[in-house]
Amino acid sequence: MKIVFFSAKPYDKQFFSRHNASYDFGLEFLETHLGPHIVNAVEPGTAAVCVFVNDRLTKEVIEVLAAKGVKIIALRCAGFNNVDLKAAQQAGIHVCRVPAYSPEAVAEHAVAMLLTLNRKIHKAYNRVREQNFALNGLLGFNLHGKTIGVIGMGKIGQAFCRIVKGFGCTIVAYDPYANAKLIPDVEFTSLEELLKRSDIISLHCPLTPDNHHFINATTIAQMKKGVTIVNTSRGALIDTKDAIEALKSGHIGNLAIDVYEQEENLFFRDLSAEIIPDDMIQRLMSFPNVLVTGHQAFFTVEALDQIAATTLHSVNELSNGRIPADVMVK
Ligand code: NAI
Repeated sequence: MKIVFFSAKPYDKQFFSRHNASYDFGLEFLETHLGPHIVNAVEPGTAAVCVFVNDRLTKEVIEVLAAKGVKIIALRCAGFNNVDLKAAQQAGIHVCRVPAYSPEAVAEHAVAMLLTLNRKIHKAYNRVREQNFALNGLLGFNLHGKTIGVIGMGKIGQAFCRIVKGFGCTIVAYDPYANAKLIPDVEFTSLEELLKRSDIISLHCPLTPDNHHFINATTIAQMKKGVTIVNTSRGALIDTKDAIEALKSGHIGNLAIDVYEQEENLFFRDLSAEIIPDDMIQRLMSFPNVLVTGHQAFFTVEALDQIAATTLHSVNELSNGRIPADVMVK
């Protein structure tokens, strides 16, 4: 049985090939994104496609996949905002994902970004290499005693809370669907209250049609002046244009993003010799108080192992007529 991988990188090949020893599927790795531009190149007889965060599985793409005989879309990630699930259902294609490969990997990266940005480790690293040991411009603040607002209290949000509790922070959380009683030492509040009280806000909710750009000029105005925002979730939760204005006015004091709303054309590639036409990311990267990483929060050995193991297990179950727990479209 053949599985075609899109947006495949050398590390995908390495981890999936190793785990495939137990299954012996035919694996084909393509570097290109999946989208309308390439879907016709999928060969008839392909049973499954394995995709990542920036592949675009629109209705149009899904219909072509179905016509080629594809039966399974396997997302090797947790987020699924890039797949038209209704279209998959209508086309009779199963969709599975990896709902929890390593919440700690993402939570730890969010904390790493927060500490790096606050204590200016990225600047200090460069300075000392130039034999510049001056401290001017490196002033940070204690996390101890600060209020951290966590938006989205699922697996990653909770892992994030467990870590920042150790710093002696007060944690407030907003999640319209979580069971507040199950999570100790976290005070659940309304979104308005969280925005008003938090020194630091970390986003851990999925991107849905309801919360697209919900960090915008209006919600930023409700935050403390000088607030630190960390986004390891999905780029379009933040209206980047409004965030840039708030950085210019000083209302946002620090911004750490591992995700960006236009990341599809940038991330996971080496563009160091290219001219980047996206003025928003260039403006963002020009701020001294903005830290950008290229969607790497998930990128640990443990997470890649789990992603490969879960994905191949799910594809195997589905191809044998069984429905594993992580299936989104049965
Ligand atoms: P999860 O499904 O365990 O938790 C998400 C939580 O968000 C749930 O408790 C849900 O009730 C809550 N939620 C839904 N809509 C909300 C809203 N409008 N406001 C506040 N809370 C809301 O998901 P998990 O595993 O914690 O992942 C969270 C997100 O992190 C994913 O959806 C994905 O976008 C992102 N992610 C990013 C990665 C990276 O490498 N940067 C890697 C993995 C996930």
